[in-house]
Amino acid sequence: MPTQPWYESIPTPAYVADISALRRNLDRIAHVKEKTGCQVLLATKAFARVDLFPLLAEVLDGTTASGLYEARLGHETFGKQVHVYAPAFRDQDMPDILRYADHIYFNSPSQLNHFRPQIGTGKHIGLRVNPGYSLSTVGGDLYNPCAPHSRFGTPADQLGDVNWDAVDIFHVHALCESRHDGSIGLIQHVSKTFAPYLKSVKTVNFGGGHLLNHPDYDLSALMDAINRFRDKHDVAVFLEPGGGIVYNGGYLVATVLDMHHNGMPIAILDASASCHHPDVIEAGYRAPVIGAGQAGEHPYDYILAGNTCMTGDIFGTYSFADPLKKGDKILFTDALHYTFVKSTVFNGTPLPDFATLHENGHYEVVKTFGYDAFRGRL
Ligand SMILES: Cc1ncc(COP(=O)(O)O)c(C=O)c1O
Repeated sequence: MPTQPWYESIPTPAYVADISALRRNLDRIAHVKEKTGCQVLLATKAFARVDLFPLLAEVLDGTTASGLYEARLGHETFGKQVHVYAPAFRDQDMPDILRYADHIYFNSPSQLNHFRPQIGTGKHIGLRVNPGYSLSTVGGDLYNPCAPHSRFGTPADQLGDVNWDAVDIFHVHALCESRHDGSIGLIQHVSKTFAPYLKSVKTVNFGGGHLLNHPDYDLSALMDAINRFRDKHDVAVFLEPGGGIVYNGGYLVATVLDMHHNGMPIAILDASASCHHPDVIEAGYRAPVIGAGQAGEHPYDYILAGNTCMTGDIFGTYSFADPLKKGDKILFTDALHYTFVKSTVFNGTPLPDFATLHENGHYEVVKTFGYDAFRGRL
């Protein structure tokens, strides 16, 4: 008797981490580290399944946080370096930030000068610089840290005001879902534009947005660029991707609750774009679906829609080889980064389970969120 696919009878909605895929991704990152000597951090803003941190920590050097809570999370659960950056830190948070983080990045000379006196020895201090370089592939200016009037990083014309003696790490973050051309372009831009400042730091952090595990990302081109940069400027190099680490490492699995018809067929799902995959709405991201194509590619077109009151809560129009029906499973792939970390319970929509697909095919539900998760926030 043929065995059912693993997803056929699972409770949904569910975010499913695929361990084989994550291992494949980590192997590629281990290779980059080995060939360049660079260190790679996980940006926990993108992905923070703490049950999977031991696996990620086999290869990665630590975590990078967006503030106190993520810094504490990294310290308590990852067990390696903790880096933290925020556009501005709150005075009352700094004692705890210093407890949890070993690398603290400031956004401006004013933040650096304000907090520097309370930071003792043994901490590494970074300054985020706005490199004025953009090659984002998604989201337009919504996700472009170098957009006009961006608040991220010290602009080049203010670098002369910086007390460089107090800075160990030159930090830039300019990319979003970039392939190697973006990473290399940024590395070369920093090398060319900021060489005098690089003389006074020990380390350069090239931020996130390097989509290292995309099949079109040429790792050898990246490795050449990092090695050339390190040789030329005699600095250590960090990368701090989020999406690039878990890219294509799992699924959001939904069930068709009902078939509706209004001018065209609409499949109403128990997953919501708005609540569970907000980049679909915010950034126009198209979540790939296993077995489905663009509208018109296969014989049967459907709008895949969420079960909330928001008219625009739709994943998009997808085509299938066979008609969809109530009870069918829909597998959105590449659904680990910037999904559950941004999810909401709008409308009382249930949050997806956290689950793991193990290498031997075993499916494990790791965490569920019931009524209490909704009630507790109100
Ligand atoms: C400073 C910083 N570092 C790293 C990242 C991670 O980026 P990504 O998940 O695109 O790799 C971000 C994302 O916003 C960021 O702002």
